[in-house]
Amino acid sequence: MITGGGGDIARHYARALAEAGAAIGLIDIKPDKVADAADALTKAGHKAMGLTADVGNKRQLRKAVDRIIDGFGGIDILVNNAGYATTIDFVDIPEEEFDKVLDANLKGAFLLSQLAVPSMKRRGGGKIVNLTSTVSKSGPGDLVHYVATKSGIIGMTRALARALGPFNITVNALAPGMVATEPIIALYPGEVLDRSAAGRAIQRWEYGEDLVGTLTFLCSPASDFMTGQTIFVDGGHVFD
Ligand SMILES: NC(=O)c1ccc[n+]([C@@H]2O[C@H](COP(=O)([O-])OP(=O)(O)OC[C@H]3O[C@@H](n4cnc5c(N)ncnc54)[C@H](O)[C@@H]3O)[C@@H](O)[C@H]2O)c1
Repeated sequence: MITGGGGDIARHYARALAEAGAAIGLIDIKPDKVADAADALTKAGHKAMGLTADVGNKRQLRKAVDRIIDGFGGIDILVNNAGYATTIDFVDIPEEEFDKVLDANLKGAFLLSQLAVPSMKRRGGGKIVNLTSTVSKSGPGDLVHYVATKSGIIGMTRALARALGPFNITVNALAPGMVATEPIIALYPGEVLDRSAAGRAIQRWEYGEDLVGTLTFLCSPASDFMTGQTIFVDGGHVFD
């Protein structure tokens, strides 16, 4: 199950996990995008289902999770990838915008973990991967609400790892740098991506493909003894 399944990076995750043999349940707030993403997987010969839900709404999520469990028999992997951000001066961030960012990036991961864990327990274990970001370390001042949620994800990942370890469920976080997705290229001029590239040990733009290896590792038995960790996949941009 992948949230934000209609998004740019999610299609790389979905294709890789499908090629590794997983049936893919996609959840997104945008009906057209999630239907297209599921269609593309089905046309490529994979098992896929696209469902519309707001990850901040537990009632909608419960319906989507039930349909995935009915269709595929259970949940082994949850990728909390849904995300939303707006660049706004701190003093101008409306309360409603803070809530919207919190719902999409943090509350959604909390709610879906609650809903998916009973199925994982019945199946003897599972994998949860939460998407965070290098902004949790760099802390840009015009993304205060977004940074708060992405830092919250790191703490929640640690606590969930302890809560779920006894059930063979691993919980890890993946932190990309600025990824050259279509929306990012449209939003930021090339020099912003170039500046980001110049700050990296590996001095080039980052792409969705760069994240796939780590994501599949975190969803596979190869990472069975690793939990509560955050892996930065950013070409060496931020270090501890
Ligand atoms: N693109 C980057 O540079 C970058 C960098 C670091 C981390 N990330 C994280 O990676 C993840 C994917 O990013 P992306 O670049 O593919 O973004 P994207 O905007 O292309 O995709 C995000 C998807 O989440 C969906 N979504 C937003 N709010 C939702 C909600 N309330 N309920 C359900 N779905 C919702 C959107 O409709 C969209 O399809 C996000 O969590 C993002 O914060 C992205």
